[in-house]
Amino acid sequence: MSDGDAAACCCCIWTCLIILALPISLISLSLKTHNPRISVEDLYIPAINVAAPSNATRLNTFVFIDLRLKNAMPLNGLRYQVVNLTLSYGGAAVAEGAVAGFYQGMMKTARKTAVLRTWGMPWEEAFDRIARGLTVDVAVEVAMAVKLRRCGVYMKRKVVVVEGVVSVDGSGEEVDEKVVRLK
Ligand SMILES: *[C@@H]1O[C@H](CO)[C@@H](O)[C@H](O)[C@H]1NC(C)=O
Ligand SMILES: *[C@@H]1O[C@H](CO)[C@@H](O)[C@H](O)[C@H]1NC(C)=O
Repeated sequence: MSDGDAAACCCCIWTCLIILALPISLISLSLKTHNPRISVEDLYIPAINVAAPSNATRLNTFVFIDLRLKNAMPLNGLRYQVVNLTLSYGGAAVAEGAVAGFYQGMMKTARKTAVLRTWGMPWEEAFDRIARGLTVDVAVEVAMAVKLRRCGVYMKRKVVVVEGVVSVDGSGEEVDEKVVRLK
């Protein structure tokens, strides 16, 4: 074998490796899956907003929530079939709701808001905590049924549940307007 042949062969191997490496890395990227990343951007409880001009806001038993849902996968789409929300206070569920299902493309982020009616919330205790300069800590749980979409094909349905605690102060909103990532 001449030097020229050896060089050509070596070059061919490199070309082959590069040609093979690209689809392999694309396939492995698409096989690597991530659950949706959910965070609470905003949680507003008007009843405990002490800056509200009227005591009537204390009778408002609704909670406003603004969620951020991110598909962190570069090559797979995601269909959210069910997005259930449960808010708990002091270990007991006080509000439930849902966000309509939707499809989310690769690396896309969505914002979804919901207004939840509370029931059985111990408001007097919450008002008392705020009056004493404490926070009202609300546990937020998001239970989702999702389907991954890979190369145009939907994969098996999967249930993902994430949760976190959002601390609300006398502004009626999160302390320091903190975004809470649910895990
Ligand atoms: C709101 O309620 C507090 C305590 O119950 C009372 O002292 C105050 O006068 C009320 N304010 C208004 C504007 O009604
Ligand atoms: C969502 O809520 C509905 C109604 O309460 C329930 O039937 C369903 O199982 C829940 N789904 C998930 C994924 O939690």
